[in-house]
Amino acid sequence: MNLLVVFIWLLIANVSYGEESPQLQALKQQYKRPDFIPFPADNPYSADKAQLGKMLFFDQRLSRHFNMTCATCHNPSLGWEDGVATAVGDINESLARHSPTLLNLAWGETFFWDGRAATLEEQIRGPVEAEVEMNMSLAEVVQRLNKVAGYREQFQKVFGESINETNILKAIATYERTLVSGTAPFDRWVDGDEGAISAQAKAGFELFNGKAGCSGCHTGWNFTDNQFHDIGLATDDLGRANITADPDHIHAFKTPGLRNIGQRMPYMHNGLSANMDAVLAHYISGGIPRTSRSALMKPVLLNQQELDQLKAFMATLDGEDKPVSLPILPI
Ligand code: HEC
Ligand code: HEC
Repeated sequence: MNLLVVFIWLLIANVSYGEESPQLQALKQQYKRPDFIPFPADNPYSADKAQLGKMLFFDQRLSRHFNMTCATCHNPSLGWEDGVATAVGDINESLARHSPTLLNLAWGETFFWDGRAATLEEQIRGPVEAEVEMNMSLAEVVQRLNKVAGYREQFQKVFGESINETNILKAIATYERTLVSGTAPFDRWVDGDEGAISAQAKAGFELFNGKAGCSGCHTGWNFTDNQFHDIGLATDDLGRANITADPDHIHAFKTPGLRNIGQRMPYMHNGLSANMDAVLAHYISGGIPRTSRSALMKPVLLNQQELDQLKAFMATLDGEDKPVSLPILPI
């Protein structure tokens, strides 16, 4: 008798919640969050090193005119971006590209929109030394930091040696690797909580992976294939082709991850798309047809209901991130 009740209950439960096909379940698992942050063998994690990197990240003494920090353009309040179309530099001039988020870069394979840096350590030299950004040679940064007793002590404690260029890069890169987007409603759904996201968002997830073709490039838990594509945006920037001279890479840029995307407007390497509606309008059009445009880009017919579903899905990727506290800087 009891068994029969359980059997009937299972049958009902299956009808009401069990509509998920094995295919959908397998698809969801492709987006499962990783359990740990990967750190490279030649720059392993330590809490003190990450804390030192955080101080350097938020220290204006890394910029020539004491007027910028890394957070000027990678602001935690704005999804680690800066909220403007293209970044504003050291003497208020506009830079050519949009500041990308620093979230989830521990899983990155190349850095910058065109992938010209192979590691985070190598990347950091770029903004510090660029004349239009912080405009300081790393040698000068070492000199400045050496005048600060608190930094001399910190570097000794973390690296067992005095301040040098390599250690500065290692400390900042370690801090950057700790910047991981928080658990989002989407993650709870992947983990089996059916009520974590709406039916509209679930339909959006299926469109994202199906008819809308987004997962052709935005794949895996951070929604990027780490590859370079020309998606047919209006731009003069040669992108990846500047680095590889490969004609297939003309106007190709690194696929951005989509975590916390709601906090990161405007969008694209040049900030061309003011909001998500503009992004979706671009994908519906398929972008400018030209020889370098990715074969995955073509016009997609999506009606208003489907667009709303896609937007509802992407909104479930905004994590519940903890507020970031500012470090007390050494003097
Ligand atoms: C003036 C604004 C500005 C400042 C200051 C700045 N950045 Fe950036 N950052 C940018 C822009 C713009 C890009 C993209 C440039 C490109 O791709 O050519 C970028 C790219 C990056 C990337 C690559 C991200 C990716 O997805 O590949 C990292 C990492 C980064 N910056 C870290 C830092 C760190 C660390 C500092 C401080 C030492 C810093 N930035 C200072 C504007 C800035
Ligand atoms: C051919 C690969 C490809 C496909 C397909 C694709 N994307 Fe993208 N996506 C990219 C690349 C590359 C960029 C950056 C382009 C640039 O700035 O020039 C991007 C940018 C974005 C951005 C802006 C992210 C940011 O940080 O600025 C969003 C949002 C986005 N895509 C969503 C989607 C959605 C939704 C779909 C499906 C309708 C989709 N993408 C299909 C490769 C792709």
